[in-house]
Amino acid sequence: MLIRYKKVYEKFAMGLLSFMPNEKDIKKLQNTMKQYEMQENWQLFLWKEEEIIGLIGVVLENNEDVIVQHISVNPSYRHQGVGKSMLQALYDLYSDKNILPTELTVSFFEKCNMANEEK
Ligand SMILES: CC(C)(COP(=O)(O)OP(=O)(O)OC[C@H]1O[C@@H](n2cnc3c(N)ncnc32)[C@H](O)[C@@H]1OP(=O)(O)O)[C@@H](O)C(=O)NCCC(=O)NCCS
Repeated sequence: MLIRYKKVYEKFAMGLLSFMPNEKDIKKLQNTMKQYEMQENWQLFLWKEEEIIGLIGVVLENNEDVIVQHISVNPSYRHQGVGKSMLQALYDLYSDKNILPTELTVSFFEKCNMANEEK
């Protein structure tokens, strides 16, 4: 289930974010977290089953585009469809918007056959 980020989940969120190739540096990671907490158009979601195992972070642009800049799953839960389920849940949540990847997330979009879909 996709849930919205709250401050109580900060440690989980930072752990998951740090799996992104561009978030290895702790200063960069802290800065990214701050952006998700402060910027209204930066939205962070977590994927919760029995525990929190995934993260998806987006930027909303022009009231039309939802850019997926971060997507990450706990390594113990990979290859079970969690990443794809998170993307699908995002499409359902923003069904009237264009969901788009960045150059850092495009390969997973393509893997899921979602790179060019508009719903
Ligand atoms: C990418 C990621 C979120 C996928 O999570 P997941 O829950 O394992 O995803 P799914 O189970 O839905 O899909 C798994 C498929 O995605 C593929 N995949 C994993 N990482 C990928 C990547 N960077 N680019 C393209 N495909 C990728 C796997 O090879 C796997 O394919 P297979 O089942 O044929 O072996 C996860 O691997 C992760 O957290 N990676 C580290 C963070 C990261 O690099 N994010 C950006 C990805 S572009």
